[in-house]
Amino acid sequence: MKDFEIAVYGLGVMGSSLAKNLISKGFRTALFGKTQGERERFQSQGDYAVFSTEEDLVKSLKSPKIIFMMVTAGNAVDSVIDGLLPLLDEGDILIEGGNSYFKDSQRRYRFLSEKGIHFLGVGVSGGEKGALTGPSMMVGGSKEAWDSCGHILKRMAAKVGDEYCCSFLGKEGAGHYVKMVHNGIEYAMIQVIADVYSVMRDGLHLSHQEITEIFHRWKDTELSSYLIDITAAVLGKNDVDGQPLVEKILDVAKQKGTGSWTLEEAIARGVYIPTICESVFARYFSADRQLRFDGSQALKATTIPMTMENHEEKLKDALYLAMIVSYAQGIALIKKASDDYGWEIDLPLAVSLWREGCIIRSDLLKDITKALTQSNKNILLSRNFGDLEKNQQALREISAKVVETGVAVPTLMSVISYYDRCRTEKMNVNIVQGLRDCFGAHTYERRDMEGSFHTAWLEGEE
Ligand code: 6PG
Repeated sequence: MKDFEIAVYGLGVMGSSLAKNLISKGFRTALFGKTQGERERFQSQGDYAVFSTEEDLVKSLKSPKIIFMMVTAGNAVDSVIDGLLPLLDEGDILIEGGNSYFKDSQRRYRFLSEKGIHFLGVGVSGGEKGALTGPSMMVGGSKEAWDSCGHILKRMAAKVGDEYCCSFLGKEGAGHYVKMVHNGIEYAMIQVIADVYSVMRDGLHLSHQEITEIFHRWKDTELSSYLIDITAAVLGKNDVDGQPLVEKILDVAKQKGTGSWTLEEAIARGVYIPTICESVFARYFSADRQLRFDGSQALKATTIPMTMENHEEKLKDALYLAMIVSYAQGIALIKKASDDYGWEIDLPLAVSLWREGCIIRSDLLKDITKALTQSNKNILLSRNFGDLEKNQQALREISAKVVETGVAVPTLMSVISYYDRCRTEKMNVNIVQGLRDCFGAHTYERRDMEGSFHTAWLEGEE
């Protein structure tokens, strides 16, 4: 048989979910599983076949052959490509859907282009369930490949009305770049939620029950989002003894690397993303339990107990602003990268792919997409969210009170700093320039005249 439309290579958790998704949409799908266990996930009869050798898999495909690789990101992807390459013909298409580093996708795109093979690097978000029922898919790489197989990828994806949350965003590693930043925003949103939880638990000393009820009520407000939904679910889950499970979870957060890649890129591109930055460092810092234990014994804090009228409303308003700012920072990074790498990413389109299927989906994204369609300014400046007056006021009050109370929520506090920085017409770095020129003759520019200047600042200097 030689007429399968597409192959899925790798039948782990994500691969088998994507394969089931394709099969359910009626695509004739060839599957490759390395292990017996993987292959056994597909026992029943259907319009698909499971292969145990690359040769048989490739032979079963019609031309151009399309292979969707879903293996662990990193060296494994390169090994799979090396194994498949001798079996492929010019014009065939390799799709890679892991959480790959975008620079690996750039490299693979160039390497395969030279061999006449089209490469698509696809950022897939939504976890196992999303992969099965409809993920958000951010596609980068060969436009020719997209034109030929984009219809298949779209059919796999989540939908908003008639629109698929899957699109081609740019050449080379553009798809994986947008997915990386999606994850950076994911880190930020998760950590601002955690910080708000901390204000309730450690500042206001609300009971677990009260906190859970508040998050439940927020599900149907302007905060409406997947992450708020699952926060309510996680808080509401009890252990076998009937006690809240979340309170028994060790306070050390893990990560797989996409958040740190986002930071590295922010530094490389010179884009200020303090909320994403604090959220990544919150995870690193959480690992040092000994320091936190020693510090809790040794470090003095003169604190004032926290009280706050209408705390539920104020925390909601603050969190709303924090979510906008988290998106704003990520979007600013994508914009700069698109300019620097020459990808010409359609920002409203890229952001619209997050409206369904992915981890950072939220009601807010409709307004954000609209804001980006209207203007290419930072979304924080858009009037689509109202004037944010009460939101900034609430976050300002909360930030002042957490400092007084000694509750460490730097990710949440970075939001008000970002907001205030964005409204600071005259920054303080004039003094930085003065000092640099004083100790190193680095020169400075002036407000009142053009040119580059150096001054003899110290007595006795010429
Ligand atoms: C998604 C998620 C997914 C994964 C994160 C977890 O969009 O479906 O982002 O890709 O769950 O990468 O990342 P950490 O393990 O680093 O938190």
